[in-house]
Amino acid sequence: MKKKSKIICLTSYSKNIAEEADKHADIILVGDSLGSVLYNYNTTKKVTLTNMIDHSKSVRLGVKKSLMVVDMPYNTYRSKSSALKNAKKIIKETKCDAVKLEGGKKIIRQIKLLIKNKIPVMGHLGLLPQTNKGKFKSKGGSTKEKKQLIKDSLLLQDCGVFSIVLECVKTSLAKQITEKLKIPTIGIGSSAYCDGQVLVTDDLIGLNNTKIKFVKKFINIKKHINLGLKKFSSEVRSQKYPSKKYSY
Ligand code: KIV
Repeated sequence: MKKKSKIICLTSYSKNIAEEADKHADIILVGDSLGSVLYNYNTTKKVTLTNMIDHSKSVRLGVKKSLMVVDMPYNTYRSKSSALKNAKKIIKETKCDAVKLEGGKKIIRQIKLLIKNKIPVMGHLGLLPQTNKGKFKSKGGSTKEKKQLIKDSLLLQDCGVFSIVLECVKTSLAKQITEKLKIPTIGIGSSAYCDGQVLVTDDLIGLNNTKIKFVKKFINIKKHINLGLKKFSSEVRSQKYPSKKYSY
């Protein structure tokens, strides 16, 4: 799809959202952002393999046509052997199509081993939530960071990753990387120059309140949820519901 049409990637943590996201996306990502979005964790470091597998099993039920990618959580790919063991477990138990790992040179041996074992890998560079210290800050501002990000993206491509998420990468650098690579870049806070875009679905539909710069709220779904719940509670209180029609 590179240079032909923009790639749409949406996150999902459960079947019902996955079913709707699948109608609009090319890639459904079971992101470890579920740690902060669903469990209020202040870091994705707390997300476990069991969390990811359980949510992914539910997502699998809703994804029919999109490529399904599952994040490998923190600490599950520290060594080559643990990366392979855990990636195999994720693929086997969730029937997903690929896994995503955060990082470049530091985890290159793990990525190479997964690809050698025919496990498709999506890369993730720029801001890396699993190891990020402090606030959401853009990446690629300094010459050193810029050089490292270009190096890392080429390294990941050479290893055989099929795509790279670029998170919070400065516009000019995201453009440069996207133009240099043959594989597609998927941006999040990294400008329109990327080959595709990803956002956390709960953020873009207004289910999760966040003030991150790159998040645009495309709909306020909470309003609709509240309307439905208000109608239900008021009809129960006024004894309009359940009428005969809804009773056995
Ligand atoms: O965890 C996640 O949801 C992600 C995307 C936002 C890129 O990694």
